[in-house]
Amino acid sequence: MSRSAHPAGPRHADVLPEGHYTAPPADLNTLDPKVWARTVARDEQGVATIGGLRVTDLAEEFGTPAYFLDETDFRARCRAWAEAFGTEADVFYAGKAFLSRAIVRWLHEEGLNLDVCSGGELATALSAGMPAERIAFHGNNKSEDEIRRAVEVGVGRIVLDSFQEIVRVAHIAQSLGKRQRVQIRVTVGVEAHTHEFIATAHEDQKFGIALAGGQAAEAVRRALKLDGLELIGIHSHIGSQIFDMAGFEVSARRVVQLLAEVRDEHGVELPEIDLGGGLGIAYTSEDDPREPHEIAKALGEIVTRECEAAGLRTPRISVEPGRAIVGPTAFTLYRVGTIKPLDGLRTYVSVDGGMSDNIRTALYDAEYSVSLVSRVSDAEPMLSRVVGKHCESGDIVVRDAFLPADLAPGDLIAVPATGAYCRSMASNYNHALRPPVVAVRDGEARVIVRRETEEDLLRLDVG
Ligand code: LLP
Repeated sequence: MSRSAHPAGPRHADVLPEGHYTAPPADLNTLDPKVWARTVARDEQGVATIGGLRVTDLAEEFGTPAYFLDETDFRARCRAWAEAFGTEADVFYAGKAFLSRAIVRWLHEEGLNLDVCSGGELATALSAGMPAERIAFHGNNKSEDEIRRAVEVGVGRIVLDSFQEIVRVAHIAQSLGKRQRVQIRVTVGVEAHTHEFIATAHEDQKFGIALAGGQAAEAVRRALKLDGLELIGIHSHIGSQIFDMAGFEVSARRVVQLLAEVRDEHGVELPEIDLGGGLGIAYTSEDDPREPHEIAKALGEIVTRECEAAGLRTPRISVEPGRAIVGPTAFTLYRVGTIKPLDGLRTYVSVDGGMSDNIRTALYDAEYSVSLVSRVSDAEPMLSRVVGKHCESGDIVVRDAFLPADLAPGDLIAVPATGAYCRSMASNYNHALRPPVVAVRDGEARVIVRRETEEDLLRLDVG
């Protein structure tokens, strides 16, 4: 494709419209390791590489748009979490962030457990050989079939989310002649500093059973009475993309208080607590996420301190990071189609994907970064909005970012940190074909989820 000249559009030196951006970075060609997967770099020609493979070659072989996932980075992050929490705690990867059979195998090999929240995720986990006892089953409205399957295969725990479910799981377990290990998910009344739709522990939302008004204590009372249940602990998840540890501290403190109340009332010390997932990652260079060992230390200290104060044995802790493991390990590669400079505003750069492969910008006002990756450029920074090819104006992938002013149709650009909640929330809107996920490791690339085809679409349409 030719690089046709076009007006450069608004520059940072001009009057800038309102937006979510700061000043352009000093060098647009730098791929900030904070937001890019571990093995991403540029070669001598300036072409970005992952696992030693050039994005230009990858685009040729696998097409665009496509997600490229750094297996080396994924495994390293699994190990970092496992090591940080050690043998005294358990790490459950939250499959909702992104799940495929390859991912399940890697988790298994790296010694992680898995949190699933639907029959589909459970089926994926089992089909790739994750031992059932290492699976936690979540959800605020699990169907009877889902519960039955989970109990039958022997999942390690079911996290109970409502009073109805306490009875339902107990009943199903009993009818199968089993005693199911369960935790009760409580809402601790913490307002996590994140988007409203991804905050989950304030009271006015659908998850869990409130600590307030003694509801959680009542749930424990009921669960302890039922033969089909073995109550092993209390679960709390306060939200997602959180940087501030204060919310986790309050949550841990309130969960430990409940353990103390349970001990006082029933003479039972529940042996486990799960503090959920929700740890934030860097989507732009402005974000400063915590390392797993800092998180493990902070959580371990608060739980130990609170338990000592309450005279309780310290329970076994578990956590459920999803985004923090898979998010930073992938980027989405797009080819630039059309470029529209809007005077006094910004330049609209259209790519061959959009809200069907990344709904997070439209849904949560999420911020992303973007870079030209098929070459380097020393052109001036151009305030850009990366948009997709869908038929609505909210189809925005990156709201505000700087790309070089000589950007041209045919260039490859990539959006980093798209490993979590992008492919897993992808849709067929406008009958878009969902992109493949290509895993890259040590100079080898292999498709782990293939690109959808028109046949896939038509196969479902049986009318
Ligand atoms: N555990 C439970 C019970 C959860 O509900 C979640 C996420 C996690 C763990 C993992 O959270 P993470 O570590 O990945 O933040 N689609 C939204 C995020 C929804 C999160 C739902 N629950 C987004 O794209 O930001």
